[in-house]
Amino acid sequence: MSIKKSLYGNLNGKDVNAFVIENNCGTKVQLIEKGATLDKLIIKDKNGNFIDIIVGHDSLDGHVNRGDYQGVIVGQYANRIKDGKFSIDGTEYNVTCNEKGITCLHGGGEYSSAVWCGEEISENAVLFTYHSPDGTEGFPGNVDVKVTYTLTDNNDLELEYRAVSDKKTVINLTNHAYFNLNGFDSGDVLSHTVKINADRFTAIDEVSIPTGELPEVKGTPFDFTEEKTIGRDINADSLQLKNGNGYDHNFCISGFDGTLKTAAVAKADKSGITMEVKTDLPGVQLYTGNFLDGSVKGKNGVPMTQRCAFCLETQVYPDTPNHPEWPGCIYDAGEEYISHTVFSFSL
Ligand code: GLA
Repeated sequence: MSIKKSLYGNLNGKDVNAFVIENNCGTKVQLIEKGATLDKLIIKDKNGNFIDIIVGHDSLDGHVNRGDYQGVIVGQYANRIKDGKFSIDGTEYNVTCNEKGITCLHGGGEYSSAVWCGEEISENAVLFTYHSPDGTEGFPGNVDVKVTYTLTDNNDLELEYRAVSDKKTVINLTNHAYFNLNGFDSGDVLSHTVKINADRFTAIDEVSIPTGELPEVKGTPFDFTEEKTIGRDINADSLQLKNGNGYDHNFCISGFDGTLKTAAVAKADKSGITMEVKTDLPGVQLYTGNFLDGSVKGKNGVPMTQRCAFCLETQVYPDTPNHPEWPGCIYDAGEEYISHTVFSFSL
């Protein structure tokens, strides 16, 4: 186990550091302070080759100017808030509508574009901290956020999220890594198989806002209760797939009770790599890189084309601030938000 820290770049006069955690299997995880980003995950495939399974950028300029949330920590409210509006105890808050001018997406981009402060806290863990001043992007509260990435010798990458606000507020934190388990430069992910532990999903309207319905996945293209390829049903005739331009939906994790549960398992055919995602949160967003169109070049100049990666973003359901009937996202002043997500890799 070791951690190496180096200078990654400089943003507006501020140094941006990179940390590489290496375990005893030779797996390496690179994290960078901009966005507390999971930037690289280099791991052995079934042929004994080490491959990087994170699709993203290889420069700070790419992350800052051509980014689409690649690998970042997203907050203060990951995913969407309808009309950028919600109320807490009768006070209405208006947050940044950065999507089509009508929706708040990923908290307006605040946490993901910030330069966090990274610190090695053990031989295999890096802690990132960020202070979000009251009112940033319209969200209430001075919020102190801590995200710890830990890489174990079993090839588990554990993320622990903690946040405390000095005012009652909404919190929903996730990591937005784009995975291609065959390697970042291996083409599309349609042949990956995925299994999701969800009997229901969050139906969305034509601007990707939850309608409030939680339809059963059974008999629909959203049924991942048995392992199937991402590509099998992605082009099926379905209003939900049309609304999302592919899979871009929250799945309601079955048996949610606040303890760590398997949300999803993804497997890649060529590399033989399996990734299991566990979380103590109620939802997971499967996003199949629908808005990537090849116009942005990523690592090694490889264009990021549609479906060249998938994301499994653990979260509370989108637009929960406007759905009090769903598992909650409101935290009192001084009440700590804590969540855990584990990505476990095996062959
Ligand atoms: C999330 C959203 C998608 C898209 C990506 C970033 O996954 O659900 O609709 O906005 O982030 O492009």
